[in-house]
Amino acid sequence: MCGIIGITGSEDTAAGLLEGLALLEYRGYDSAGIAVVEPSNKIFRLRAAEQGGSLYHLGNGLPKEKTARLKYAAGIGHTRWATHGAPTVSNAHPHVDCQSTLAVVHNGIIENHNRLARDLKERGHHFASETDTEVIAHLLEEQIAGGKSVKDAVISLLTVLRGAFALALVHKDFPDTIYAARRTSPLIIGSEAGVGLLASDVAAVLERTRNLFELGDDQAAEIRPGAFRVYDHLGVEMQPKAINVGWSTEAARKGGFPDYMSKEIHEQPRAVAETILGRLEPSGETRLEELDIDDGRLAAVERVLLVACGSSYHAALAGRHAMEAWAKIPAEVDIASEMRYRSMQIPKNTLVVAISQSGETTDTYHAMRQARSQEVMTVAVTNVVGSLMTRETDGVLYTRAGPEIGVASTKCHVAQLALLQCLALRVADLKGTLSVAEKSAVAEEILSLPSLIERTLLGQEQFRKVAERYAEARDFYYLGRRLGFPVALEGALKLKELAYVRAEAYPAGEMKHGPISLIEPGSVVVVVAKRSSLWEKIMANVEEMRARGATVIAVADEGDEETAALVDDVLETPPVTEVCSPVIGVLPLQVFAYTVAKAKGHDVDRPRNLAKVVTVE
Ligand code: F6R
Repeated sequence: MCGIIGITGSEDTAAGLLEGLALLEYRGYDSAGIAVVEPSNKIFRLRAAEQGGSLYHLGNGLPKEKTARLKYAAGIGHTRWATHGAPTVSNAHPHVDCQSTLAVVHNGIIENHNRLARDLKERGHHFASETDTEVIAHLLEEQIAGGKSVKDAVISLLTVLRGAFALALVHKDFPDTIYAARRTSPLIIGSEAGVGLLASDVAAVLERTRNLFELGDDQAAEIRPGAFRVYDHLGVEMQPKAINVGWSTEAARKGGFPDYMSKEIHEQPRAVAETILGRLEPSGETRLEELDIDDGRLAAVERVLLVACGSSYHAALAGRHAMEAWAKIPAEVDIASEMRYRSMQIPKNTLVVAISQSGETTDTYHAMRQARSQEVMTVAVTNVVGSLMTRETDGVLYTRAGPEIGVASTKCHVAQLALLQCLALRVADLKGTLSVAEKSAVAEEILSLPSLIERTLLGQEQFRKVAERYAEARDFYYLGRRLGFPVALEGALKLKELAYVRAEAYPAGEMKHGPISLIEPGSVVVVVAKRSSLWEKIMANVEEMRARGATVIAVADEGDEETAALVDDVLETPPVTEVCSPVIGVLPLQVFAYTVAKAKGHDVDRPRNLAKVVTVE
């Protein structure tokens, strides 16, 4: 889950690499480094490993005269989230071979690196790091010493390396060329006005070009100023696929907000509006053209299985209710990291919906592949165009939330919720399970979500004031029932990951089966108590908490004085039907967690120990 950038032919190679890395930091940020070929045919390498400040230190360590000398040269950069080896300078990428003839950056995991490293060491190679990546540098060194061209040596890696990798390298004798290869982990090539570019994500190069191409699985590339060539694992030249990216470069910046998270919270009305745009009419007609699955096949679906991790899993838990309520078919939800290792026989006519903001979460990807191996239909719901999962599924639905940089998911989560509702309505439409009036009522409700989100966010100041009162509390319990439960889970996850505070989420009815023993004076219970048919039951649960000394904060409907009178604090949100309520209910809890985290002085965009894209198990 690291970020890679490569630039050649640009007059600002070194600065350009640092800029690209800054745009990639959300992929991991425990260390960073660059390598550029100097005009004297030497590799210039600079690395730093400071939690939260690697790039700053990298920039400071780059002398001005060096920057001038590195003009137009080929350079590569890397921002790391450690998998093999601690986040230290010696483990930071790029890694070099014994003679520093070449430098390599890599994203992914080389599964056979232990055996390769052992053999290389036996043949006299000296290793300077604990990473799996370094084997690549030494393997290439051997191949090139044995007479192969750099290009052919890189192509040979496609046969030698096992696992998932995106790699890029520069060689001292080819000052204008970047070499690259990939399997599973993505790489994007760009070419513009005499400049050649390479990146693990489009966000890193969008400001420089929109002339972008996807390096295919098991392909290698040579990138030169303004030109590139792509080869398959046999060395046959291939035509790369162009990528059409609609994001604006501005969308990838903070846009005046103090951090990406508040910007992304603010962007939620638009994220949902764009996600549902053109996909449903007030009449309830749905159009999911890019889903690219035949209507007949979709109408024949008899059950749905939703798989995901983290916040996307919470979206799945909410989406299941829409599927059951509208399409009237059974819908199950599984955590991807569990599902992929179960001996699960998925019944025919099941639709497997794999949900992943990044489209690259390893567990979700493999769970989806497991479903495909059983020949059931799969749909990937993701925010990243061209991401891994989109290339190996029957259908794709994109949340159109724009790039989400904050590590904690906000706008992508609500966009997922809205998109799953559109999918449920589409299946209901094809199956004819809703009357014309019901269909239209549901569609009107989904279409009103962007303005309801906007209205909810007008209450941010009040949410912040409530949160500030609880910034020092030690134990939080988040409770909800039915559609309120995924909201409780998501609220608790946000508090845990951002504020580093213990927060347990339970279906409210479960408390008395054990966890209620934990409740004592000082416990804070956050309850999702929006009006629904279960409101009375949830308020009875609230009473049980208060009787044991807990302080209760309720996510409740605007003007609901009855609820307000039964709790200590209220986070008011507009009323909405229960099936659509998670989109609204989660908003105050995002702001709550943000505020508590800020009060504790935490970096909300880059919580400790986390990475935005989880490409390891
Ligand atoms: C939490 C969060 C994570 C992700 C999870 C899955 O705020 O963002 O829990 O939801 O890592 O990531 P994706 O959706 O990219 O598969």
